[in-house]
Amino acid sequence: MYYIDEELKQNILSEAPSDEPARQLFFIEECRKILSERAEELKRHLTCCVNTFGCQMNAKDSEKLLGILTQIGYVPVETEDADFVLYNTCTVREHANVRVYGRLGVLKHSKDKNPDMIIALCGCMMQEEQVVEKIRKSYRHVNIIFGTHNVYMLAELLFDYLCTGINRTEILKGTDRIVEELPSERKYPFKCGINIMYGCNNFCSYCIVPYVRGRERSRRREDILREIRNVAAQGVIEVMLLGQNVNSYGLDFKEGDPNRISFPELLEEVSKVKGIERVRFMTPHPKDFSDELLETIAKNPKIARHIHLPLQSGNTEILRRMNRKYTKESYLELVDKIHEKLPDVAITTDIIVGFPGETESDVDDTIDVVKKAAFDNAFTFIYSKRTGTPAASFENQVSEEEVKKNFDKLLKVVQETARKQSEKMTGKIDKVLVESVNEQDSSLMTGRLSNNMLVHFPGDESLIGSFVDVSLDECKGFYFMGHIV
Ligand code: SAH
Ligand code: SF4
Ligand code: F3S
Repeated sequence: MYYIDEELKQNILSEAPSDEPARQLFFIEECRKILSERAEELKRHLTCCVNTFGCQMNAKDSEKLLGILTQIGYVPVETEDADFVLYNTCTVREHANVRVYGRLGVLKHSKDKNPDMIIALCGCMMQEEQVVEKIRKSYRHVNIIFGTHNVYMLAELLFDYLCTGINRTEILKGTDRIVEELPSERKYPFKCGINIMYGCNNFCSYCIVPYVRGRERSRRREDILREIRNVAAQGVIEVMLLGQNVNSYGLDFKEGDPNRISFPELLEEVSKVKGIERVRFMTPHPKDFSDELLETIAKNPKIARHIHLPLQSGNTEILRRMNRKYTKESYLELVDKIHEKLPDVAITTDIIVGFPGETESDVDDTIDVVKKAAFDNAFTFIYSKRTGTPAASFENQVSEEEVKKNFDKLLKVVQETARKQSEKMTGKIDKVLVESVNEQDSSLMTGRLSNNMLVHFPGDESLIGSFVDVSLDECKGFYFMGHIV
């Protein structure tokens, strides 16, 4: 292994700057020196693999982590037999956790074969004490553990591990700090997510996110715009503004602070950045969806014709117990207003089935909203009890059998509604951002409409990253087959 002696380590540490990001850039360089020596000994590159389990915000963090690792000298690979394997975890539903434990078991065998292998875990699961305890006790082959608030510290933690070979855990309970300007390795050259805020203040009673991501912190307008100008200069033409509740962007800045601008104002400024042709955002909360936002979208063709508006439930009493702060009626009014002002916008949603106390008739309310709102698509989730959330201690947890029955009933309506909505686009011509070669048929390309729907059409790789006009010939449910016009 590559451990260095204590005296040398102390000498290096005494030179480390205390300011960020200078401190991390310093550790990136120190790790690079240690690992390049090791690579020379082994006469091969050292490789890394970062796997993301969660939402777009986690994916964005993974790009930062991969940026740090590549700067250190690791060569990214897709497979998990790499020298550095990092899982960026999610804990929004139990299923996500189970997947991580399963994969960690497999990694143990890979590590037995490659003693150079370093395994690291980060992300939302690591903000839960009982998880970290379990991993430290039962998964000792995990070498570095850190949380959602210190993603930027990867190089410093790796340096420590490289020096000592002692497993390292560093979780911060919270932070008011946002460290900018570290390297980042984007997954696509032509589109990327941009964090505009971190954390969540809403405390929906089923949701763990506010506990693992902390309170809302908006990034400063200038920092966001600078990042977007930079990526645009590197060829990005589509950005997605990310936050758990994007329409409360900016409200944590004091009155009078020039950073205190509303989300619609920010959208407007982002769309003016040279080179940016399409702007998406995720996720707005129905309780804060303003008329100003609707008007901004209506008059700005660069803003994507897609609004993801999580419903969660269509029953007002369930919504109250979920702490969502809207009713069945107010949600439907909002949807009507969106359809009226923005007839070409696709509305998608998230729905939870099996919240404590939910009856079949409550699910019928949800089904009623699905039909009336005519969602273009809906992600349906089975309620997952999350330790530490209020709903975990609610009475009347619904039986698995009942949930399954209701879930299937809802899913059927969701699919029928989505198909009907999609079919309305048949025969139209629309702009597509070409994203990749089709996975099943390499003579086809896959692209995305402004309303987020996927289209497959004959074409070649040279089109990737550009806009083309495509005729939407045949609706296949959630996607279209088409041809370039
Ligand atoms: N901030 C976004 C959603 C973030 S989590 C919002 O307010 O909608 C993404 C989705 O996961 C949620 O919309 C919800 O449908 C689902 N979800 C969150 N907690 C869950 C739980 N405990 N069980 C099942 N689904 C959950
Ligand atoms: Fe979770 Fe609600 Fe916050 Fe969304 S708004 S992240 S569902 S607490
Ligand atoms: Fe999962 Fe964390 Fe996102 S819990 S959904 S990765 S904020």
